[in-house]
Amino acid sequence: MKAIVFDEHGSLDVLRYRDIGAPTLQKGEVRVAVRACSLNYHDVFTRQGMPGIKVPLPGIPGCDCAGQVSEVAGDVTDWKVGDRVLVDPVFWDLETGKMWMIGDTWWGAYAEYVVVKASQLIQLSDSVSFEDAACLPVAYGTAHRMMLTRGEIKQGDSVLILGASGGVGTSALLLAKMKGAYVIAAAGSDEKCRQLEELGADETINYSTKSFVKHCRVSTGSLFAGGGYDVVVNFTGGDTWAESLRCVKLGGKLLTCGATAGFNPQTDLRFIWTAEMDIRGSNGWKRDDLDRLLQLTESGEFIPVIDSRVPLEDGIEAHKAMEERRFFGKIVITSDAVA
Ligand SMILES: NC(=O)c1ccc[n+]([C@@H]2O[C@H](COP(=O)([O-])OP(=O)(O)OC[C@H]3O[C@@H](n4cnc5c(N)ncnc54)[C@H](OP(=O)(O)O)[C@@H]3O)[C@@H](O)[C@H]2O)c1
Repeated sequence: MKAIVFDEHGSLDVLRYRDIGAPTLQKGEVRVAVRACSLNYHDVFTRQGMPGIKVPLPGIPGCDCAGQVSEVAGDVTDWKVGDRVLVDPVFWDLETGKMWMIGDTWWGAYAEYVVVKASQLIQLSDSVSFEDAACLPVAYGTAHRMMLTRGEIKQGDSVLILGASGGVGTSALLLAKMKGAYVIAAAGSDEKCRQLEELGADETINYSTKSFVKHCRVSTGSLFAGGGYDVVVNFTGGDTWAESLRCVKLGGKLLTCGATAGFNPQTDLRFIWTAEMDIRGSNGWKRDDLDRLLQLTESGEFIPVIDSRVPLEDGIEAHKAMEERRFFGKIVITSDAVA
């Protein structure tokens, strides 16, 4: 099969579009002809190598995909060739307690075909496109859990979202607006801010030209006069971490699910105790999050934000655009792989 492969970890130039032998099916497994695969910043981490996570080499990135079943192992009876499916990227081996994830510890979906456990498949109705479905698991599932399950965002909350232009960010914005929150969306360019306003943001901040802390102080006032936001969402980490603590109002929450710019940032404990804030981590998604997002997508209440669709052979350029922050929402790789 054709795939985008890396034989060693490193910068962009380790990626190759080439032929690679497709694995044979083991018990309980299914081969899926990938029709759409959405990109996540996690793909960059997988390519670079992540401390504490051993990625078998050669590796294939791509955690999120939808497509059609093209082959089933002899013991798989619930699925048949041609079924339209969304793949839950994660599989838990209950005997060893080990987690496998496609596009990470398991070959991913920057490829014509991906082999997964049958239990990872979710039926896809004809009314949801492969492209929309492929946007849902990693970024949107995580945003769903972070904003609604862990974050308990409610009507009237003021919510500042940093990195709002990306996959998790646009989804966090849509979900917060669905709940009736007031959203302040922050991103790295005027054009991205304009797109965020079109998506429903009530205020935007271009943090490449303006301090989001200053914006918060000027528009909400000082902490003890009721200033700050009910919820601050920070999955960027790095230099933004300590700054974002200053934007949480008394008794407010800071939500995090990632650290694009660095996982070991400097912090400032004074802001945490002074504002008596809750810092809540959120990790990944549960199957319930995906089921709910699929329902919302099917009913048209939730429309994935797709920046562009590119064929598999141009996937390396797409990955580069994501790493260089030249996109808004989700980039989707498409393929005509035959079921
Ligand atoms: N824990 C989990 O299960 C989980 C699941 C999904 C994602 N995550 C994490 O959440 C984060 C966001 O993921 P994503 O897929 O939404 O990423 P993404 O689509 O690439 O969006 C991230 C956005 O952050 C902004 N940004 C700020 N500083 C950046 C930097 N130094 N490098 C790159 N982008 C920067 C960029 O927007 P501007 O150009 O507008 O600044 C970018 O578009 C990642 O760290 C990811 O690993 C965690």
